[in-house]
Amino acid sequence: MLVVYFSSATENTHRFVRKLGFPAQRIPLRRTDPPLRVDRPYVLVCPTYGGGASISRQNVRPVPAQVIRFLNDEHNRSLIRAVVSSGNTNFGADYGKAGDVIAAKCKVPYVYRFELLGTPEDVTILREGLLRNAEALGLEAPLGAA
Ligand SMILES: Cc1cc2nc3c(=O)[nH]c(=O)nc-3n(C[C@H](O)[C@H](O)[C@H](O)COP(=O)(O)O)c2cc1C
Repeated sequence: MLVVYFSSATENTHRFVRKLGFPAQRIPLRRTDPPLRVDRPYVLVCPTYGGGASISRQNVRPVPAQVIRFLNDEHNRSLIRAVVSSGNTNFGADYGKAGDVIAAKCKVPYVYRFELLGTPEDVTILREGLLRNAEALGLEAPLGAA
């Protein structure tokens, strides 16, 4: 079960992913970092950075540029199996919107959304849901997992 994720300097997503306990690879923050290339199917965990575009009309790009760059690599895009997105409910209709955009563009299910660094319940629900549905999603279940 590979998790690929992006997290900015605030590292909310990083902390959430660490609690999931699956092997994880992080999409680099800086352009100067070597790009990430994956070698097996993964679930993408991506925070939303649109800045509440529905109201402000200012920033209409909920998916971070680093994640767009990662998915523009056709090889990486071919291995995405599901998306999880995070955000802040203060953004109203734009809460977790990055997941809607990625699911539509990559034609994969948007399986879960959580706020900020997530609750222990979020970790349990997503962890168990991914394990239970690994085969249906086309993700490799860890050896020995139920
Ligand atoms: C500039 C900025 C814009 C954001 N825009 C949205 C948004 O449109 N929708 C949303 O749900 N959350 C939005 N958020 C909240 C982030 O998705 C949230 O803080 C997330 O946990 C950040 O993850 P990270 O610390 O791993 O980068 C925004 C946060 C910032 C700083």
